[in-house]
Amino acid sequence: MRSILVLNAKGGCGKSTISTNLASYYAWQLEQKVVLADFDPQGSSMAWLEARGEEWPLIEGIAAWKDPLKHARDTDVLIMDAPARVHGPELTQLLRRAETVLFPVLPSPIDMRAAASYMEELLSAGRVERKEVKVGVIANRVRENTIIFSELYDFIKKLKVPYIATLRDTQNYIRAEERGLGIYEMAPSQVWQDIEDWEPLVKWLKSKRSQP
Ligand SMILES: Nc1ncnc2c1ncn2[C@@H]1O[C@H](COP(=O)(O)OP(=O)(O)OP(=O)(O)O)[C@@H](O)[C@H]1O
Ligand SMILES: [Mg+2]
Repeated sequence: MRSILVLNAKGGCGKSTISTNLASYYAWQLEQKVVLADFDPQGSSMAWLEARGEEWPLIEGIAAWKDPLKHARDTDVLIMDAPARVHGPELTQLLRRAETVLFPVLPSPIDMRAAASYMEELLSAGRVERKEVKVGVIANRVRENTIIFSELYDFIKKLKVPYIATLRDTQNYIRAEERGLGIYEMAPSQVWQDIEDWEPLVKWLKSKRSQP
């Protein structure tokens, strides 16, 4: 079973958006059996699943902030949506279940500063140090040709982890979220640019580089 944790201590950087879109990618595009575990009591991923119509491929949800992480043996992919501000033993506990961490960062000075110190904390976690968990960074809500994006680009390049993908800032994520869908399940004429944005991410997730 593939297990992917979407993590960053900063609120609002896109953890739930990336988690739900990833769940929809594996379920719809690859027809895999997906479990989406929501570790955040805000329950954004659970709310997304509730909005999802029955005509779309089933994704099993676990309210993991309160319920045990029990899932069927034949699960292909486990996606874990982390809450903000996860540190210490709680972080260790989450990392224990993950083989890949996706770390979204927004183009803003406050977010980049917070990301730098949280990345240090993450890189010093035992499982990450021992390379039992692979970490990749995603630039999220990016507007091309802005100064702040070029600053974010330079910032991520200097981190000691691979820079995997750049996701643009678009209402498509908000429209998909309302309907319990991922961008892959939207009209291709509307989301083709976003599907292109996801290409390097899904390629990395398929490769050995993202797995211990
Ligand atoms: N690429 C994007 N383009 C436009 N809007 C986005 C994008 N990514 C995320 N958003 C929006 O930004 C808001 C915050 O995103 P999200 O809830 O995924 O962040 P989060 O890291 O899970 O937040 P929290 O820490 O509160 O759980 C949401 O309204 C979401 O729809
Ligand atoms: Mg969230």
